[in-house]
Amino acid sequence: MRSVSIIGIGQSPVGELWDRSAREIAYTAISAAMADAGIDRADALFLGNMLSGNLLDQEHMATLVADTCGLHGIEAAKVEAACASGAAALRVGAMAVASGFHDVVIVAGVEKMTDTVGKDTTAGLATAADAEYEALHGVSFVALNALIMQRYMYEFDVPLDAFAGFSINAHRNGANNPNAMFREAITLQDYLKAPVVATPISIMDSSPVCDGAAAVVLVPTERVKEFTTGHHWGSVQILASASANDTLAVHDRRDPLYLEAAAISSQKAYRQAGITPQELDLFEVHDAFTIMAALSLEACGFAGRGEGWRLAQEEAIGIDGQIPISTMGGLKSRGHPVGATGIYQIVELVLQLSGRAGANQVKNARLGMAQNIGGSGATIVTHILGS
Ligand code: COA
Repeated sequence: MRSVSIIGIGQSPVGELWDRSAREIAYTAISAAMADAGIDRADALFLGNMLSGNLLDQEHMATLVADTCGLHGIEAAKVEAACASGAAALRVGAMAVASGFHDVVIVAGVEKMTDTVGKDTTAGLATAADAEYEALHGVSFVALNALIMQRYMYEFDVPLDAFAGFSINAHRNGANNPNAMFREAITLQDYLKAPVVATPISIMDSSPVCDGAAAVVLVPTERVKEFTTGHHWGSVQILASASANDTLAVHDRRDPLYLEAAAISSQKAYRQAGITPQELDLFEVHDAFTIMAALSLEACGFAGRGEGWRLAQEEAIGIDGQIPISTMGGLKSRGHPVGATGIYQIVELVLQLSGRAGANQVKNARLGMAQNIGGSGATIVTHILGS
């Protein structure tokens, strides 16, 4: 198997992009990534996307996007794994390069969630859950996470304000990210008085509904030098790529407060990269809800059961902390255009590992992990990158 590196990145701003269609947003990200890599052709495009069929009446999305980008005659395919679609697409792209099937692969993620009315978008997101046993009963995605958070607070005797640190950290970092949807820092008071969406989740615990696209260019590490000349920033290597699943429905789990798939995929990733979690310089967590950030930190070996929130309270997750998370705003503040999120995380890791993260730069960042979660922990994809 060949080692795989990233030589180009691109992203569109995240937000309510009502004046632009999904294909235009994808074009923005892909053309930027191709220019960054200095390429005008690729062998394949793998596209992470969850909701195009449901919300845009558009399937066949990867070929549509390739067509818009002038990438004709190449392989193009959409990869869907709910909110983990982006990272699942990256894994497919990395496997294609590692196996020798392709040499130059573009992996992008795109999602357009704001062209439909709220109830339709909410129903679309609920298709990530079990349609017959969860969604049929009217439980939305926010509600499922609210049930998990409620249970966590009860089991571990955790007060609501314990989660504030995740949101405060994400918004503080997002304020410095020109592509983030929310660019204002928030205080504990802002967190405490935020409108509740589904008890105990408020809008300050929740990622927003939004649009966005991000892209990366992959090549075999052995060919990196051919592409990275002159003023180019270099490359970042994919040291590990792992995926694991869990029961689709939360109620089928032995323990709904343990992200078993996060534990399995992160352990596989640590083994592939030959590192321990303590060696990571940063971790882009899937903080779609503050409770998910706490559970990921616990399952990936940064905190004991019921203790993940303490890392936020002790500021261990800040840019200068022991394990910086959501360094460019995370899903909470940068935004969570679902099928694109996994690629935004990778773009942000590359910025950090190549020393281009500006005011949010983690000092001497050499090793970073990104974890993308589909459903309430049912598909979990973990990547470790190294500079
Ligand atoms: N964080 C911070 N502010 C938010 C916000 C969020 N998550 N969501 C909305 N806002 C702000 C808006 O900017 C707006 O502010 P303004 O009045 O100053 O302009 C205000 O709240 C109302 O925005 P609106 O778009 O009308 O919110 P909404 O009530 O329609 O939607 C949520 C808010 C939280 C219900 C919606 O974003 C949501 O459903 N999020 C979850 C998405 C999800 O489940 N994703 C998948 C996860 S795996």
